[in-house]
This record gives sequence, C-alpha cells and structure tokens, in this order.
Amino acid sequence: MKTILVNSIESMLEIRQQLNGKIGFVPTMGFLHEGHLSLISEANKVSDITIVSIYVNPTQFGINEDLSEYPRDIKHDIELLSKLKVDYVFFPNDKQMYPADYKTWVNVEKITQILCGKSRPTHFRGVTTIVTKLINILDPEFMFMGEKDFQQLTILKQMLQDLNFHTKIVGCPIIRENDGLALSSRNKYISSVGRGKALCLHNSLLLAQKLFDDGIYSTNKIIAQMTDLIDSNGGIIDYIEVFDPDTLEHIPKVASGCRIAIAVVIENTRLIDNIQIK
Ligand code: PAF
Repeated sequence: MKTILVNSIESMLEIRQQLNGKIGFVPTMGFLHEGHLSLISEANKVSDITIVSIYVNPTQFGINEDLSEYPRDIKHDIELLSKLKVDYVFFPNDKQMYPADYKTWVNVEKITQILCGKSRPTHFRGVTTIVTKLINILDPEFMFMGEKDFQQLTILKQMLQDLNFHTKIVGCPIIRENDGLALSSRNKYISSVGRGKALCLHNSLLLAQKLFDDGIYSTNKIIAQMTDLIDSNGGIIDYIEVFDPDTLEHIPKVASGCRIAIAVVIENTRLIDNIQIK
C-alpha cells in the first residue's frame, strides 16, 4: 500500500474512524535515522497498520534549548518512509496541536523531576502531553519507543497505566553506530572531533559493566571511574545514575538488571545513553 500523508488532525481523525485492525504507532520528531527505522520494523511485525508521526513538539523544549535549531528534513523523512511499510505519516503543525487558547497539561509526578528532569524540569510534561494527544487522535494498539530515552519510556509506561489507556508501549533496543555511539538526531550537531569524544558515553557504560564483571558493585566506585573516563575525554557530565528500571530509584549497589544512565555535554550538545547491567 502507498504511504498516505496526513497533515491535519481533522483528516487523521476521519481516517482513523475507518481503520480496522491493530495499529502500531511510532511517534517521532523527524530527522529519521536507523533507530527510528528499527521501531517501524518492530511495529510492522505485530500491527496491521503502521502509523508514524513527525512533530517537533515545542512544549518539550526548555526556554534555552535547541527548538529552533532542532534538525528537520520532512521531505527526506517522507521519502524514506514511503519506501517502507508505513501506511500513514501524520505531521500536524503547531497551530493545530497547540491553538492560541490551549490550556491542558498531562504531568506524571516525581519520576519526571529526576535524571534528565533535573536539568530539563518541564521537558517530560511536554512529552506526556503531546503523547496523550497523539494517542487520543490515533488510538493505537501499540506504541513503539526506543530505550535510549529510558526515562521517557518509563514515564510513558506509568502514564498509560495511571490514565487507563489501552495502548501498550513496546520498548525497543538502542541502535548504535559500529563504534558504539547511540544514534540520535542530535549527533548532527557534533563535529568530527566531538564525535570521537562522544564515544566516552558508551565506553563509560562498557567500563561500568566490566567493573561489575570484575566484582566491583559499589555504585559510588563505579560512578567515580566512569567520571574519570568522561572527564579525560572532555565530556561535561550532567548526571550518571544507577537505578531500578521500573521505579527509576537510585541503587547504592549495582546489581544485574539495573540500569545505568548518563547525560553528557559534548561541544554544547547534551547526549544521553544507558545500558542494562547483566
Ligand atoms: O522521543 C521523541 O522523539 C519525542 O520525545 C516524542 C516521544 C516523539 C514526543 O515528542
């Protein structure tokens, strides 16, 4: 089937009313990369109809963040999606999503104020609000999200549960370049020198796994060594945290199954990554 492009909420709602079968939804902010494509391929495995949204959601950017510079290439994205099994691409605009009299917010408490929420206090409120709106418009059976934004995934799981949405969220593994750098639309901001430095994110996570394998379990000791590695590569650490994957609560002793997540600024670009300790 040809990919159908839908740029208004009204048309999307009309189309949705006529659709039968399981809908797999991949929300994106565009500038698509292999990570997004892997979500689409997972969606295709279990859904009858695959819908991808492209919308750079202004409310999840803080005042001094990169909203205006955020990479966009809708033409290329649509070309790419038209070659895949994507039934609908939904790309609404700001006026439709947030009309002048817009007043409603969806907010998950507590777990939105830690980790990335410390330096981006309003970010997740924007994410939960836009995802609620998209789910209400598309009413999907499944929603596919990457584990790179592990906190986002956990917050959205909590929101779907708390608000009794029937949509099930499916977390998909991080897709990396051959050298380990996690794919992100923001990698575009980094120079080739910065790109070399950015490998310290994944390398520090691999170091944490190695220390754990060698019998070092103290979170503080592991974080100290990760910090040295990142510092020596010129990365500026926002946070390194070891936590329970379901509650995001801090864990003082690293154990199998816990997550280690980091946010590091490389050349003014804030990058995130995480691993599950095995
Ligand atoms: O992960 C993203 O790209 C965004 O946060 C999302 C889920 C599309 C909401 O704008």
